[in-house]
Amino acid sequence: MNDDPIVYLNGDFLPSSQAKVSVLDRGFIYGDGVYEVIPVYHRAPFRMPHHLKRLQQSLNGIRLANPMDDEAWDALVRDLIARQPFDDQSVYLQVTRGAAKRDHAFPKGVAPTVFMMSNPLVLPTRDQVEFGVPVVSADDNRWLRCDLKTTSLLGNVLMRQRAADVGAVECVMFRDGHLTEASASNVLIVRGGTIVAPPKDNQILPGITYDATHEFAREAGMPMEVRPVSRDEAISADEMWLSSSTKEVLAVSTLDGKPIGGGGPGPMFRRMYQAFQNHKPAAARRG
Ligand SMILES: Cc1ncc(COP(=O)(O)O)c(C=O)c1O
Repeated sequence: MNDDPIVYLNGDFLPSSQAKVSVLDRGFIYGDGVYEVIPVYHRAPFRMPHHLKRLQQSLNGIRLANPMDDEAWDALVRDLIARQPFDDQSVYLQVTRGAAKRDHAFPKGVAPTVFMMSNPLVLPTRDQVEFGVPVVSADDNRWLRCDLKTTSLLGNVLMRQRAADVGAVECVMFRDGHLTEASASNVLIVRGGTIVAPPKDNQILPGITYDATHEFAREAGMPMEVRPVSRDEAISADEMWLSSSTKEVLAVSTLDGKPIGGGGPGPMFRRMYQAFQNHKPAAARRG
């Protein structure tokens, strides 16, 4: 594996060991930036327009001008992909408010910092898909703009570590007695044959994979509802799923050590997982 891959920084492609950012960069000082993660199958980005749309929404949310139009982003992402020696990738891109004298208020006339890298796409293992994964739960104490994909991720980092500390895959969060999301995934449940997903409000990231599951459910005639999900409903659900660009859809086996439903992937999960796999090559071809 190449340990010095080509990355993109402010107009240049260069080995990652040579990519340098100022210590005054507001991404470093304040976490003042936004990012995207785009999965790439066989060198074709999956749902790129959706990711670029969400990037624009995140930039709007932090009042930072988009440094490029979608066409330029598209070309740059494809160029980065072409420079990697592996086919299935996970493109990470971030835009920060640039380097400036430390002061909370926005600096004037400062160019944003644009950074991109691409790592091999590491999907869940066959065992994880087959048997589901353990998760823990916690009260959601993050800020109230979880709809923005910002690089300020300390809340999510601490939640994910809670899971890692006990060998779990994710930390599923509840706010005021209702399901929000997990530290790096959306969460959906199944009750009585219906998929139930929390609404896309300020408390969760509008996941691209979350949207994909809605589309695939509609196509497959799987009943789906979007509404608040109480903690009791979540804990006693027949199935619970995680969704994200790098997990696709993944069933939860246990929450805080107690089985969800039958303690493994249920029939609705298997249908959704299959729908996802069926869509991957076609969508990847469309790019
Ligand atoms: C907090 C959070 N929620 C949800 C998601 C899922 O979003 P997507 O499906 O666009 O990857 C992510 C992705 O990393 C995330 O970090």
